[in-house]
Order: sequence, then structure tokens, then C-alpha cells
Amino acid sequence: MPLLKILHHPDPRLRTKATAVSTFDEALSEFARNLLTTMYAAPGIGLAATQVNVHKRVIVVDISEEKDQPHMLVNPVLEPYGDKIKGEEGCLSVPDIYDSVERFEYVKVSAQDVHGEPLQFTADGMLSICIQHECDHLEGKLFVDYLSSLKRGRISKALRERAK
Ligand code: NI
Repeated sequence: MPLLKILHHPDPRLRTKATAVSTFDEALSEFARNLLTTMYAAPGIGLAATQVNVHKRVIVVDISEEKDQPHMLVNPVLEPYGDKIKGEEGCLSVPDIYDSVERFEYVKVSAQDVHGEPLQFTADGMLSICIQHECDHLEGKLFVDYLSSLKRGRISKALRERAK
């Protein structure tokens, strides 16, 4: 199966708000697997459907070294809690740019699996940050939105020039 094409900032399609998934069929499973394969190939630790121009509420995440602990989350809903922590973030849609972003330390995740079965867990550290980052994509939001307008301007300019 061919890898999915990842959109790059400042592509306006990255600003689309994703809609809820209501049909849990083979096409959805296949899409989620393809999203995961595309993420591993990039390589990355998280990818949202929005980033491959599919505006459905699906994210995939795997922060393990061995790439053997995938989370495929459909219709994720987050309850972040705890202190705010700062971590260096990057994004497959904002290539080669890394900057410090504040996130909640913990997050309670409620979602469905690709078969529509409910699942719930809490995450901390890198997994918590990564899930918050991916869920932002479903709202059309990028990590660079948290940076100063000066930094954002520089990043957009650098990426536009590189795309030429
Ligand atoms: Ni991202």
C-alpha cells in the first residue's frame, strides 16, 4: 500500500476541523493502519488524519523505541490535568522545526478503537504530550500556534522558501 502524503505548513488544509467517525468498517481499519505505516516511515511518533488530508477524528501514536506500542485512537476526547510542563516538539507537517511548548503533564484519554470499542487510559510524559499534540491537529491547530508571532512568521517564511 502506498504511503500517505503528509501536508506541510502553511498548507491551509491543515486548518480543517475534523469530523467524528461514525462508520467503523474495514476502510477505517485500513486507513488507520496506513496512517501508522506512514508515521513509522516518516519517521515520526504521532500522526493525525488531518495531516494526510483526511478530515476524520483519527490519530496514531507510538513513542516506543521498538515501534511496537501503537495507539490507534478514533474520536479521542482528552481531559488534561496536572502541572504544565515544557517540552521540545516537532511535527511531520512542520519539517525540521523544533521548539518548546507548554502542555499538561497528564491526560485522561477516552476514545474508540478501529472497531468502535470504547477505550480509556491515562498518559504522562512524552505520550501525554504527543497525544495532546495530535488532538490539536484534529482542531486544525499546530504546535507553532503556541509560539510568538515573530517566531511563527520566521517559520512560515522558511518553510515557504524551502517549498519553492
Ligand atoms: Ni504534528
